[in-house]
Amino acid sequence: MISRQSIDAVINAAAIEEVVGDYIALKKRGANLLGRCPFHDEKTPSFTVSPAKGIYKCFGCGKAGNSVSFLMEHDNLNFADAIRKLAAKYNITLEEDTIINREEYNEAQQKRENLLIALLFARDFFREQLKSEEGRIVGDSYFRERGFTQQTIDEFELGYSPQGWESLVNAAKANRFNLDYFADAGLVKKKEDGSYFDMFRHRVIFPIHDLTGKVIAFGGRQLEKDERSPKYLNSPETDVYHKSQVLYGIFQAKKHIKALNNCYLVEGYTDVTTLHQGDVKNVVASSGTSLTEGQIRLIKRFTDNVTVLYDGDAAGIKASLRGIDLLLEQGLNVRTVSFPEGEDPDSYCKKLGAAAFREYLQSANKDFILFKTDLLMEGVANDPIKKTEVVKSLLTSISLIPDALKRAAYARECSKLMDMDEKLLLVEIAKLRKSKGSIEQQVISTEIRDMLQTELPKPETYSGGDLQELHLVRLLIQSGHKKFTEDTTVADFIFKELQEDEALRIVNPVYQKVIEEVAGNILSTPEDFTLSEQFFINHEDGDIRRLAADFLTERYELSPAWLEGGIVLKTERENYVHDLQSLFLFLKKTKVEQLIKANLEEFGNAADEHQKESCMQYHMQLIGVRNAIAELLGTVVSS
Ligand code: CTP
Ligand code: MN
Repeated sequence: MISRQSIDAVINAAAIEEVVGDYIALKKRGANLLGRCPFHDEKTPSFTVSPAKGIYKCFGCGKAGNSVSFLMEHDNLNFADAIRKLAAKYNITLEEDTIINREEYNEAQQKRENLLIALLFARDFFREQLKSEEGRIVGDSYFRERGFTQQTIDEFELGYSPQGWESLVNAAKANRFNLDYFADAGLVKKKEDGSYFDMFRHRVIFPIHDLTGKVIAFGGRQLEKDERSPKYLNSPETDVYHKSQVLYGIFQAKKHIKALNNCYLVEGYTDVTTLHQGDVKNVVASSGTSLTEGQIRLIKRFTDNVTVLYDGDAAGIKASLRGIDLLLEQGLNVRTVSFPEGEDPDSYCKKLGAAAFREYLQSANKDFILFKTDLLMEGVANDPIKKTEVVKSLLTSISLIPDALKRAAYARECSKLMDMDEKLLLVEIAKLRKSKGSIEQQVISTEIRDMLQTELPKPETYSGGDLQELHLVRLLIQSGHKKFTEDTTVADFIFKELQEDEALRIVNPVYQKVIEEVAGNILSTPEDFTLSEQFFINHEDGDIRRLAADFLTERYELSPAWLEGGIVLKTERENYVHDLQSLFLFLKKTKVEQLIKANLEEFGNAADEHQKESCMQYHMQLIGVRNAIAELLGTVVSS
């Protein structure tokens, strides 16, 4: 188990805006930050982050919590793993309370950590080698010849792998590393006789970072043209490197992409480094492969606007048009820049100089529709059959755009460009969308969902845990200001309980709002904030006013549905202490039961014995907790 102190240290260090900011773009809105919720599809941002309170909350889907719960939810981690991830991000060393729980580290986690350690060691080794005599003569001078500055070399952590066959192997051995980890990472290979040799030899090294700056792979470029080996040698797929989910340069670019609200997409490592050096820092590379959905999602966390920079060769561009369609399909706005024949962004930037290159990006960028039209119409002239093909291709792209208004605007643009009737094009687009039944359905359902989500759940529709949440908020509103013990109020007790256990998160968005509001006020002005019924009745938020009015005018009966077994609690206001204790127990019981159910489901879907085993262990723990709660409930409810 991670020690309480360590957990606190992590929670204190983890700034909510930084943690959330690794995943989605946030804009300042008063004291808060606003972005698009990563937990549900939405067009207008309703995901609010409060740096002061250290919490996030989505007013669309109701998800809310702190840095830890964000990671748990977003990356599907348990509490301990979320803490570990944050600890790694903030360089905090965690103390473990007992040795027994080391078993709790599952094997995969351990393996990933071993991989990362090997990669980190290799990164440092390669960087170090760049400063060795061989590295200076061969590697560093290569970078200098291509115009790399020291700052670029440092920022991208570039390195050099020596000519020998065992340079890294020997360094790892000298540091008593298990070479198997290096083999798993694709850094070395095992020979039949059991010895190892280096995979990266006599190359300049481009480390590939994840979003948080960890090295997860390498690309190594040969120093002189040699047909017998690939120009770039790349790490294989591993447990930490999934090529389709990675964009080269994203770590260095993310804050610039956010700030400039645009992302330049290029093909190669050197395109990224050169543009970055030329002060075009919002740039990432797909590393020579065709763009994937995972990579687009990565971009979408920071911006909706992509400018694709194409190397200047028409055949290559045509082959990569699918990338544009994918971007459009994901709702991104796409612009393009192409370069003269034989140039790529790197070479052209060097040719023009950085300032002129930046100008070029501004003046030569075209909306995708114009770009694609120009590209496809080349040489077509008045051939009607070929022209029809071009129109079809354009309309197919347009039909992929999820936003109806944007589609209409592009249809207009297209009708102008191709000199065709706009209405006809719209009909054609509609047909194209229909023929892709599944996509159409998806679009409709998200649209409906968006609509539904703006209407908050009606207070009449309570069930299970929701009902318990209702009563919790009822007690907060009705009795929050009353004394619970000699020097605590009912509100104090409620917050203490809620903070005690992550699993007790309030799910209903309106209730959450009430809780957050009260918590925020108590935290920011503990001295002069007094909770009163008036606070809720006169609240600026309509939902809170309505709820308060409901609760304070009507007397809610606790129904048997809430208290299984038909036990009915007294609901007189004086009884809140008793109410509260049992309420939390019921709430805990519901949540534990949900956890049990989810865990059993996971057990059912387990991929291997190891996962099954850990599910079973967790199951036993949960059952233990449930029984303890049931026992307590017996005493509280019957007393
Ligand atoms: N690539 C690769 N393996 C190769 C060739 C290319 O992985 N054998 C990837 C690299 O990520 C490379 C990108 O595809 O950066 C684009 O390839 P290319 O245009 O050939 O290289 P450049 O990036 O232009 O590299 P350089 O300027 O060093 O020639
Ligand atoms: Mn190049």
